[in-house]
Amino acid sequence: TRNINLAVVAGDGIGIEVVEQGLKVLEAALASSDVKVDQTAFNLGAKRWHATGETLTDEDLAAIRTHDAILLGAIGDPTVPSGVLERGLLLKLRFSLDHYVNLRPGKLYPGVQSPLANPGEIDFVVVREGTEGPYVGNGGSIRTGTPHEVANEVSVNTAFGVERVVRDAFARAQARPRKHLTLVHKHNVLVHAGHLWRRTVEAVNAEFPEVTTDYLHVDAATIFLTTNPSRFDVIVTDNLFGDILTDQAAAITGGIGLAASANINPDRTAPSMFEPVHGSAPDIAGQGKADPTATVLSVAMLLAHLGYDAESAKVEAAVAADLAERAGRVRSTAEIGTDLAQRVAD
Ligand code: IPM
Ligand code: MN
Repeated sequence: TRNINLAVVAGDGIGIEVVEQGLKVLEAALASSDVKVDQTAFNLGAKRWHATGETLTDEDLAAIRTHDAILLGAIGDPTVPSGVLERGLLLKLRFSLDHYVNLRPGKLYPGVQSPLANPGEIDFVVVREGTEGPYVGNGGSIRTGTPHEVANEVSVNTAFGVERVVRDAFARAQARPRKHLTLVHKHNVLVHAGHLWRRTVEAVNAEFPEVTTDYLHVDAATIFLTTNPSRFDVIVTDNLFGDILTDQAAAITGGIGLAASANINPDRTAPSMFEPVHGSAPDIAGQGKADPTATVLSVAMLLAHLGYDAESAKVEAAVAADLAERAGRVRSTAEIGTDLAQRVAD
C-alpha cells in the first residue's frame, strides 16, 4: 500500500465546506487503487487566531513539512484585521515552503458560460511567481496617519527568483502543443524589475529554442484576456500581476467558483499546496451554496503533482462531464461533491 500524507488546512468560511467535498472526490479517485490517504487536519485561520492569537507557529510549520502535500480551502475573515491571516498564514506558507511556482490554469470547459460574447477556445496557464514581488513585505510607512505620510511597498525581484520561475514556465510551454510563452510585466514604467524579467526570458529562451515568446505590458494583457484570450498559452509574470490576471482569467472562464491553483515547490524540498483561487466568501459561508469545483480541480492538480496522472485525469474528466451537463442547474455544495465523487468512481 502506498500512502499520501496529506495536510489539510480547511481554513475559514467556505473553505471548510469545499475542502470536505474535495476530500470526498480524492478518496473516490483512489478507491480502486492501493493508495491510502492519511489526513492531518490543521486548525489554522480565524478561529485559531481568536482563541490563541496565533496564525502559523514554527511547530505547525514543522508538522506541515512532514506531509506529501497540502490541501487548503480559504483563509481570511472580516473579524480579523486585514492582512493578519493573509500575511501570517497563507503567504507564510507559500514563502516558507518555497512555493515559487503559483500555477493557475485558465480553461473554458465545454458547456460553461463565459461572460465574453465570443470567448473562442480558452486554454492557457498562468505561471505566477510566488515568493517575491511586493508580497515580500519589504516596505513601511513614516509619519503614519498624518497628511505627510509616506507609505512604500517595495517589489523584490532577484535574478535567482526570476530565473527559476521563468525556467519552469519555459519547461511547461515546451511540454504544451503550442509551445508559446508570454511575459507580462510593465517594463516601460517598472524599468528595473521589468528589464530583469525581459533579459531573463531572453536568456532562458536559448535553452528552449522551440518555444516562441512575446511580451505584453500588464494593462494590454487585460485587454487581450477580454478580446482574444485564445492567443495565450503560457503566461509568466510576477506575484502581483499574476494575482490580478488570474482573477480576470477566472472571470472569463466561468467564474471564481471553477478556478483551481497549485503552489508548487518544483525542487520538492517541501510539500506543495493546492487551493482554489477564491477566498473564504463569508457572505455565503455555511449555507451550502459554494461551488466546490475549484477545490476539486485543485485536487486533480495535487494528484498530478504526486505522480497519480491517471487518477488526476479521472477527476478532471468528471468535472468536465459535470460542467457539460450542468447547464446552469443550481445544486448545493454537497450535491456537486457527491455527483463528482460518483462520476470519478464510475
Ligand atoms: C490569491 C489571494 C491571495 C493573494 C491573498 C488572500 C493574500 O488573493 O490567492 O490569489 O493575493 O495571493
Ligand atoms: Mn487573488
